[in-house]
Amino acid sequence: MTPQNAFDLLASDYDETFSYTPIGRYLRGRVHSRLERLFRAGDHVLELGCGTGEDALRLAGRGVSVLATDASEAMLDIAQAKTADSGRVRVEKLDLRMLPVSGDTGSTPNPQPSALAFDGAFANFGPLNGLDDWRPLAAWLSARVKPGGMAAFGVMSPLCMWEMIWHGTHGDFKTAFRRWRKDTRFQPQKPSPPSPLPQGEGKSSRFAAEPFRVSYPTIRRLTRDFAPHFRRVHVEPLGLFLPPSDVFGGVEKRPGLLKVLMRLEDRFGRWGGLALLADHYWIEFERLNR
Ligand SMILES: C[S@@+](CC[C@H](N)C(=O)[O-])C[C@H]1O[C@@H](n2cnc3c(N)ncnc32)[C@H](O)[C@@H]1O
Repeated sequence: MTPQNAFDLLASDYDETFSYTPIGRYLRGRVHSRLERLFRAGDHVLELGCGTGEDALRLAGRGVSVLATDASEAMLDIAQAKTADSGRVRVEKLDLRMLPVSGDTGSTPNPQPSALAFDGAFANFGPLNGLDDWRPLAAWLSARVKPGGMAAFGVMSPLCMWEMIWHGTHGDFKTAFRRWRKDTRFQPQKPSPPSPLPQGEGKSSRFAAEPFRVSYPTIRRLTRDFAPHFRRVHVEPLGLFLPPSDVFGGVEKRPGLLKVLMRLEDRFGRWGGLALLADHYWIEFERLNR
């Protein structure tokens, strides 16, 4: 089986295993409340790493037009199908590791919006973690987001408390401290589809995507990389008491615990000072007027 984009492999299960789970819904609800403060009906917004299009769909329902982009064709197919009826979402391929130098967003044949066409931009739940230098993205966005416009990102944090405690107490120190390593790679695997060959002739029972390099920038690092063009205006934790997605199942089968963790998240989960200890942090920048 040819290796493929890691997220192509995850796309068909992504909503079931993340977006539509109780914890996934809760966390996305928190992001939606931020997005709805930032963007209003009539705005034009650029989404990076849109995945299956959940956030674009939500904003479209509030009258915001969204250019939803992603590097994964499989994710884009789902986003396209999900948002087609909204009339306010356009879906296009864009790889953040290969930002075009011209006025385009990417390699698609459609004419692209001109410079400073967007009232804002955002990327939710980790698309920026596929980069290891955010200066080119900041410069690229500065040519597209209007002065005073907002850029907001959900970023996987380098010091996830849950991950360190959970995997550490289970003796899995490699996973517990994976965010501290310089060269962390993510390689999803999936059971192969049923083989048409008689049993024994189809060798592999799993197939894997190309390993995907992941970085975990600090808030200070992102702020510095965006500083020539953007000013940080807000940061908050996202998933401080609630666990990362690989532990959702362990917590969701204990409804009492889930309820307590959601209450803690409601009460204390927005303190900016604790953002680095969460699974993700949510960070907002304002485009400078220069
Ligand atoms: C965890 S998913 C989040 C998807 C979506 N934003 C959401 O809120 O559910 C990360 C997404 O980032 C996309 N992504 C990762 N690296 C990317 C890159 N270099 N360029 C564009 N998209 C990327 C993946 O294809 C995937 O859809």
